[in-house]
Amino acid sequence: MEDIRRPDGMERITTPELADAFIAEQIKALQAQVGERKVLLALSGGVDSSVVAALLIKAIGKQLVCVHVNHGLLRKGEPEQVIEVFRNQMDANLIYVDATDRFLDLLAGVSDPEEKRHIIGEEFINVFADEARKLEGVDFLAQGTIWPDILESENGIKAHHNAGGLPEDIADRFELVEPVRILFKDEVRMVGKQLGLPENMVERQPFPGPGLGVRCPGAITRERLEAVRESDAILREEFAKNGLEGKVWQYFTVVPDFKSTGIKDGKRTFDWPCIIRAINTTDVMEVTAEHLPAELIDHLVKRITTEVPGINRVLYDYTPKPPATVEYE
Ligand code: XMP
Repeated sequence: MEDIRRPDGMERITTPELADAFIAEQIKALQAQVGERKVLLALSGGVDSSVVAALLIKAIGKQLVCVHVNHGLLRKGEPEQVIEVFRNQMDANLIYVDATDRFLDLLAGVSDPEEKRHIIGEEFINVFADEARKLEGVDFLAQGTIWPDILESENGIKAHHNAGGLPEDIADRFELVEPVRILFKDEVRMVGKQLGLPENMVERQPFPGPGLGVRCPGAITRERLEAVRESDAILREEFAKNGLEGKVWQYFTVVPDFKSTGIKDGKRTFDWPCIIRAINTTDVMEVTAEHLPAELIDHLVKRITTEVPGINRVLYDYTPKPPATVEYE
């Protein structure tokens, strides 16, 4: 992938100066393309959409309308960070939609992994389309498409996530704006840093679209989902404290849908286990488990079993891919 020339044969962005030059060029191009009109963006808080938002805010300010949909399956603190960074610090025009109940009601009792993914994906589009229909005079839809997405869709590996998923009445209304489409991921991160986005936002680990939903296997309940969210927050905090953030490719917790017997304060408990997964990879096709220091595992066991309601046991998943996948669903 490294050797493929991008459309304009551009130089690889490897320094802050080159990132600054890209930003200046893009701002001019975006201003010329958009003029006085408005742009809509689904802002998830992931690296690509955040960088697109920051670029557009610099270029056209409040003519950008960001919609952040909280499907209730985000990690602890994520929606708050999106609001803090974009609305409070960057003064963006941000619509925040808390659609937690809408998603969790639809997902109640659904245990099939593919059906869960389908419901989450479809409802995301419904919520975003509902917001888009309420807006008047918006001519453009911005997207965080990056260069590997283009290569993969050209090679037939996966369809690139363009406006294709949107209902026709919405998709037909918009012209696409894709300001980072010629960048590789490391370049997007460098541009994000130069745009002033927080380090933990531009360097963050991959997070699947269906979010914590795939880490709460089987039918999602609010209680078990909270146990996933709280244990994930503890894991991330400990990785950061121990200098592992940015060194381990991906790490998270899973709370499976079975209970086992335990003991707390002299009384019998019957609670869920929490599984820790920490992996390294270069291409995601093959993955190895990270071997965490024993003291850190001991500390995580202690914190998770004492601080997370409903957990009485911690397990550590050592399985590579193959035979296991990274996520549990
Ligand atoms: P698997 O479980 O397939 O995961 O070994 C490989 C990588 O892909 C991420 N992943 C997803 N990312 N939408 C995404 O955007 C998804 O539906 C999805 N499923 C898995 C996973 O977190 C891992 O990094």
